[in-house]
Amino acid sequence: MKETVHIKNTGLRGVPVADTKISYIDGEQGILIYRGYRIEELAEKSSYPETAFLLLNGELPDKKGLQVFEGQVGEAREIPGFIFECLRKLPKQAVPMDVLQMAVPLLAIADPELPDETRVGNLRKAVRLISRIPVVMAAWHRIRNGLEPLPADAALSHASNFLWQLQGKKPDPEIGRDLDVCLILHADHTFNASTFACREVVSTRAHMYAGVAAGVGALSGSLHGGANARVMEMLGKLESEKDVPGWVRRQLEQGQKIMGMGHAVYKTTDPRAKILREMSRVLGEKLGQSRWYDLSVQVEGAALAQFERRGKTTLKPNVDFYSASVYHMIGIPGDMMTPLFAISRIAGWCSHIIEEKFAEAQEKPALYRPESEYVGHYCGMMGCVYEPLEARRNVKRKK
Ligand SMILES: CC(C)(COP(=O)(O)OP(=O)(O)OC[C@H]1O[C@@H](n2cnc3c(N)ncnc32)[C@H](O)[C@@H]1OP(=O)(O)O)[C@@H](O)C(=O)NCCC(=O)NCCS
Repeated sequence: MKETVHIKNTGLRGVPVADTKISYIDGEQGILIYRGYRIEELAEKSSYPETAFLLLNGELPDKKGLQVFEGQVGEAREIPGFIFECLRKLPKQAVPMDVLQMAVPLLAIADPELPDETRVGNLRKAVRLISRIPVVMAAWHRIRNGLEPLPADAALSHASNFLWQLQGKKPDPEIGRDLDVCLILHADHTFNASTFACREVVSTRAHMYAGVAAGVGALSGSLHGGANARVMEMLGKLESEKDVPGWVRRQLEQGQKIMGMGHAVYKTTDPRAKILREMSRVLGEKLGQSRWYDLSVQVEGAALAQFERRGKTTLKPNVDFYSASVYHMIGIPGDMMTPLFAISRIAGWCSHIIEEKFAEAQEKPALYRPESEYVGHYCGMMGCVYEPLEARRNVKRKK
């Protein structure tokens, strides 16, 4: 057996595994681009449906194209009744991200064009997913609270309609627009863990929904999309804390991470966090809830000071740090914050799935199949002697 080298490209950090034309991050300068457009520009001027169209199609739509796309997303919001029936049978305490991961295959079953593996067939699946994931999540939130799911309102924007179907009241248009911007900011982010999971799964020629279900699973983890909910938990705990800097110091001394800080690619402030920070400030003032913004700023200041003292100057707030307070003020329950991330990221996932399936950024599709180095038990090329069950003694059991 070859001599084993124990340090690998662990976690594939800094290892390009494919080309992409969808998004680009400059982690040193804090730049994020979708299909050539800076995230700041899109956040200011675009809408989520327009950004989703851009990600999926590679260019901004014209007026007619956007109308058609929005119409398709709107029409697909009506979902088959059996999906609601399945949701009604679930225990009310089910975690929303688990419900979402369960619901994606149900959406596959509900898709009459599931076997259509053409590019346009996949685009139509993407439209259904973008349309239906928010509907399913809003429905689940209402069902678990003993309420009936609400029909969509075609007069509302994609973001406002989600708030309506979730909360049962028509949102203030400014708040709808804030959520729309949040959806733009979360829509894509190169080869993050969930997007890679989607691409890896469809590289086997599995259908789009199978890839998305894997992406949802990856997103649920607290080091990825689950961080926003953990930030809100932290802020909730800190509401009554007199000594925020002391709390932060103690966390770090105990080897705990400060959620919403640090990033695998950004070595400076995440450009999305800058936009969300300002949104949190303005929203706090508008709603008379500035304490969440103030608390976040205090935690940020204390964490950055501690990181500085520990020589970790590249740890800065990421997208989840200020999205937590924004979502909370908009009325999104803590455990719906990660599903909200998925409601946005579905556009990026589907775009990457299509790029992967149709080799749009490289010569031909390739099945992902990395290597591993075997470091386990080894008895030579002939293999270990198989002892009959009765003859085995003193087998050590791992606890
Ligand atoms: C996102 C994240 C996983 C990326 O980290 P990474 O590139 O894998 O780097 P590591 O986790 O190996 O961290 C490198 C060092 O910084 C520290 N560090 C990273 N993020 C930290 C945080 N949020 N708080 C405190 N310390 C942190 C690690 O403990 C590690 O220290 P060590 O070298 O002394 O062991 C990490 O920053 C993190 O866990 N952040 C909190 C979760 C979060 O907000 N996730 C959302 C990402 S958008």
